[in-house]
Amino acid sequence: MDLHMNGGIGEASYASNSGLQRMGIMKTKGVIEQAVSDLCRNNVNFPKTLVMADLGCSSGPNTLLVGSMVINAVTNTSLEMGLKSPEVQINLNDLPTNDFNTIFIALQELQGNTTNGKMRDVHHQPSCYFTELDEVNKGNIYLSSTSPESVSRAYLEQFQKDFLGFLRCRSEELMAGGRMVLTLAGRTTDDPRVEESNRLWGPFALALQDMVFEGLVEEEKFDSFNLPQFTPSPTEIMNLVKMEGSFTIDHLEIFDVNWEAWKIMKNDNDASKMKEADDGVGHGVAKAIRAGIESLVANHFGEAILDDVFMRYGKCITDKRSNKENQSLVSITVSLTRKCDI
Ligand SMILES: C[S@@+](CC[C@H](N)C(=O)[O-])C[C@H]1O[C@@H](n2cnc3c(N)ncnc32)[C@H](O)[C@@H]1O
Repeated sequence: MDLHMNGGIGEASYASNSGLQRMGIMKTKGVIEQAVSDLCRNNVNFPKTLVMADLGCSSGPNTLLVGSMVINAVTNTSLEMGLKSPEVQINLNDLPTNDFNTIFIALQELQGNTTNGKMRDVHHQPSCYFTELDEVNKGNIYLSSTSPESVSRAYLEQFQKDFLGFLRCRSEELMAGGRMVLTLAGRTTDDPRVEESNRLWGPFALALQDMVFEGLVEEEKFDSFNLPQFTPSPTEIMNLVKMEGSFTIDHLEIFDVNWEAWKIMKNDNDASKMKEADDGVGHGVAKAIRAGIESLVANHFGEAILDDVFMRYGKCITDKRSNKENQSLVSITVSLTRKCDI
């Protein structure tokens, strides 16, 4: 499967269309700062070097934002404790086809955004994943109220396998007492087939359905397209952390990211300074999603449908938006500590 966020800094790039994710990162700032502060204060020996990894860093302004937050938190904690700031090593990790070139060009930005501007070592380790679903999820591209139980179970089982493997790998990489803050698109309910989970993908399925109806997309192609994503509930996350056994949960919180956040401009951390846009929220959200899943869609359906399907998608979101209650995405942030005795 070829999955990568759109590279570069152009109109359709992830870099220019990641305001929703930026808002999510900004909302987790306090959790990240707390984890860094605890890490520095709870160690018998104040660390000389701190190593952090951004797992799924993509390319664009958000990539270096988390690193900046950690560096600033480390600097501030060191200042408060009257100690020399540790060296911070940042590992940027993403899939092999991620646009790492744009990140290297943007590295200058990190120096500008941080308190002391020191940076030592930046490298990446590519990895990839795949999912398989046997039963046809007719009329859907993700889980919805009409998805068969077996499809719902397959999604959950794939998530359990991936998340347990993910925790196991991080457990090997982190030292005892090391911290990890994870933010995932999630859900508040137990049942994954609720409207909340399918809020983004329902309108995309509608856009594709229209194209099937007009003979522009083959029905078989549509039915065999399933997004490799799962939005877990807090309980599912907590159970898997417990089952894997290497981490304790320090903090877990759920928050909403309003769709209006697509307007946040590059390098703008103040949600009140959103860009003036004539386009509706549907168009903006469609552009944000296109920056993320264009390669998946092109791979499955061919490049020829891209402009058309994302234009229809924006329209479907705007139509759906008449229901004012459904204008946000659920995110879950969990702050973990690697246990000493495993
Ligand atoms: C929605 S983007 C988030 C990017 C950035 N952290 C931000 O907040 O704007 C998710 C990123 O995770 C990456 N990703 C997905 N699966 C991955 C995997 N198994 N290993 C590494 N990166 C992965 C994708 O390529 C993508 O760049």
